[in-house]
Amino acid sequence: MDNTLNQLTPKQIVAELDRYIIGQDAAKRSVSTALRNRWRRQQLSPDLRDEVMPKNIIMIGPTGVGKTEIARRLSKLANSPFLKIEASKFTEVGYVGRDVESMIRDLTHLAVNMVKEEQSRKVKGKAEAQAEERLLDLLLPPSDRKRRAVDVSESPGDAETEHQEDESLHTREKLRKMLRQGKLEDRTIEVEVSEKNIPMIEIFSGTGLEEMDINFKDMLSGFFPSKSKKRRMKVSEARNFLIQEESQRLIDMDNVVTEAVKRVEQSGIIFLDELDKISGRERTAGPDVSREGVQRDLLPIIEGSTVSTKYGLVRTDHILFIAAGAFHVSKPSDLIPELQGRFPIRVELSSLGKDEFIRILTEPRNALIKQYSALLQTEGVDLQFTPDAISEIASIAAYVNERTENIGARRLHTVIDKLLDDISFNAPELSGRTIMIDAQSVQEKLKDIIKDEDLSRYIL
Ligand SMILES: Nc1ncnc2c1ncn2[C@@H]1O[C@H](COP(=O)(O)OP(=O)(O)OP(=O)(O)O)[C@@H](O)[C@H]1O
Ligand SMILES: [Mg+2]
Repeated sequence: MDNTLNQLTPKQIVAELDRYIIGQDAAKRSVSTALRNRWRRQQLSPDLRDEVMPKNIIMIGPTGVGKTEIARRLSKLANSPFLKIEASKFTEVGYVGRDVESMIRDLTHLAVNMVKEEQSRKVKGKAEAQAEERLLDLLLPPSDRKRRAVDVSESPGDAETEHQEDESLHTREKLRKMLRQGKLEDRTIEVEVSEKNIPMIEIFSGTGLEEMDINFKDMLSGFFPSKSKKRRMKVSEARNFLIQEESQRLIDMDNVVTEAVKRVEQSGIIFLDELDKISGRERTAGPDVSREGVQRDLLPIIEGSTVSTKYGLVRTDHILFIAAGAFHVSKPSDLIPELQGRFPIRVELSSLGKDEFIRILTEPRNALIKQYSALLQTEGVDLQFTPDAISEIASIAAYVNERTENIGARRLHTVIDKLLDDISFNAPELSGRTIMIDAQSVQEKLKDIIKDEDLSRYIL
């Protein structure tokens, strides 16, 4: 199954990323190659495979130019367990004491869910078939069958047993047909629901216990006998419930866990955002954890160590780390040397200008213009932009970025939002109309704000 993990070639990966992210070719190339390297490694003989360490990457670039977006899209492509986490989280007051190992636990947990979902997709047909049988049993309990069969056939009580069985089978098939035709969806039946009665779980969860990563619910459920209770529900609800139950019965959890741990170890990816926020060697005063301290904590995980999780021990040697940061103030060379050595690949993302903005507005699958048009379409408003309107929006965004603060493509959101706020507000009353936006209407709507630098700081 490792072979199915990721067979996309670097070029294909770049092509996929191109559908959502404009430019940033160097970064796209690096992450694609890194992803392909995972696959290459899987093809090696086991002894050599263990020698090949992942080449971790740092993406360096100003805010809003697509770093997180690249990682997010990559995660969808890579059929690998993928976790995104802000490195700066570990320095925050609220997180003091939250060990960095928790990211491995989170990743493993994610992988378990991922494998479980895959397997339940595999057993889906079987689970559905078994659920149907159970539904039929509930609709026509076996003990009742004889009596019911008799009722249905309206034959006297002394009929032959064989005949009765035939009849009951017949009834069952009739019911099955009705069930499949959806004629019984609203009928209520009683379903046995096993209920683990564990007091006060909610008080435990979510607080400081997460580091221990003990699932109290799992643990305690061993102590408390599970009570089964009858619950009345509609057939439609019962079906979902029974399918769940049957598919849980069909999935071998030990198997799932083994597979998930293997997947994390062999192909896990962690996107470590805001790495620059923990670089710099000065120690912060106050309750924040020192940045260097966080780097030291991260080191063993990135270099390769064994982390204990509730699914067993997980080795981190081959997990791929992709870090990102603006590195305005600090530089990658401000990271502790050991950590620098673990991120041999550095790629820079360029800042974006008017030309890129025009493309970002229109080309990606999820391009802003497409989003807004689709949103207004739901109100029956046909929103159209002339090419020079798009160009005007892009140049206003670039201009404001230059004059105030460069927030990259995020500026497009604020500009368009402002531009369309009236239309958006009045849309229900504009239903059935086509609204054409041209360069002039863009200028008219935004000129006062652009002229006033202070105003644009607040509004755009
Ligand atoms: N090159 C690009 N192509 C298409 N969309 C982009 C591009 N760069 C940024 N965007 C859009 O801008 C927004 C912000 O981008 P993203 O979250 O990737 O920024 P970032 O580089 O991670 O910034 P930060 O350093 O602040 O985290 C997203 O909505 C994204 O879709
Ligand atoms: Mg980001």
